[in-house]
Amino acid sequence: STATIRASYALKAQKEASVVQQPQASYKVAVLGAAGGIGQPLALLIKMSPLVSSLHLYDIANVKGVAADLSHCNTPSQVLDFTGADELAQSLKGVDVVVIPAGVPRKPGMTRDDLFNINAGIVKTLIEAVADNCPDAFIHIISNPVNSTVPIAAEVLKQKGVYNPKKLFGVSTLDVVRANTFVAQKKNLKLIDVDVPVVGGHAGITILPLLSKTKPSVSLSDEEVAELTVRIQNAGTEVVEAKAGAGSATLSMAYAAARFVESSLRALDGDSDVYECSYVDSSLTELPFFASRIKIGKEGVEALIPSDLQGLTEYEQKALEALKPELKASIEKGIAFANKQP
Ligand code: NAD
Ligand code: LMR
Repeated sequence: STATIRASYALKAQKEASVVQQPQASYKVAVLGAAGGIGQPLALLIKMSPLVSSLHLYDIANVKGVAADLSHCNTPSQVLDFTGADELAQSLKGVDVVVIPAGVPRKPGMTRDDLFNINAGIVKTLIEAVADNCPDAFIHIISNPVNSTVPIAAEVLKQKGVYNPKKLFGVSTLDVVRANTFVAQKKNLKLIDVDVPVVGGHAGITILPLLSKTKPSVSLSDEEVAELTVRIQNAGTEVVEAKAGAGSATLSMAYAAARFVESSLRALDGDSDVYECSYVDSSLTELPFFASRIKIGKEGVEALIPSDLQGLTEYEQKALEALKPELKASIEKGIAFANKQP
């Protein structure tokens, strides 16, 4: 009968609607340094997120064109552009997640610490604006040297009376992405399955992949461990050298940062199963900041995962002790910079 046909069409439509139902786009994300090598592909990847309702792109130059271009993608988020110091405050109003890839990248022969003199000031200025305009936002710091720029951000937020250690994250996701890729390649594993925790910091020997904690568990000879560890620690330099003066990793970094943004948004959205490695305010070691696996929830860092530092191999334990003095010096350098009188 007509009624039966109508009812079956209604049921079909209902089923289709439930299949295509997307998570609700409701979060605002700001990218500071959005016209840069990382900023542009990162903005594109964030534009693809079904969880984002508004994407604020800020840079000191060239951001209008990037925003106009991106705004034509038919995904839910609205794209807004903000150029120069006068528009910084406005770019941060009501924002849930702020991602900061602003700053200069390395050239061959430089260490990340060689970027300190320029990038420390950039991060300080941007965080002052974050403190004034969206103190409750999750803050993702990409600008190098991350080992120092995160402590700088913490000090600036403290000075402004709005420091929430649970919401400040140094983005070390790229180290995990690289470790996963290199281990999967070496052992012929399906990439999707491999997960290597990477702890410590984000520069040279402070990057410590815990290969013994790889999931699924893999068997690696001592030589393989040493070779993989060094490759993961030098992967940034590998890209800097291949780009031969044109900058450092941008595409893999954008991929990694987008993963960290998406994890943060899922956590904000109530997902109770979100784990990532990040360089955060930490009590896992005697150092005030340390990268490790963390559980992320609606309020930011919900838990550090201490078990990752237990039962290390002798190689990992030695590497952990060896990285501490360098990481400590980078943290102290950042703190001193943030507290020096202008
Ligand atoms: P880039 O030079 O291509 O882009 C940087 C952008 O920052 C430019 O568009 C520039 O205009 C902008 N900028 C400069 N000063 C600014 C300010 N005061 N406010 C807002 N924007 C400003 O560099 P990139 O390749 O995108 O790298 C950016 C940073 O990210 C570098 O410091 C690099 O070392 C770092 N990085 C970190 C990781 C990581 O794993 N954490 C990985 C790769 C790169
Ligand atoms: C990276 O790891 O690729 C970044 O920190 C950029 C760099 O300078 O190596």
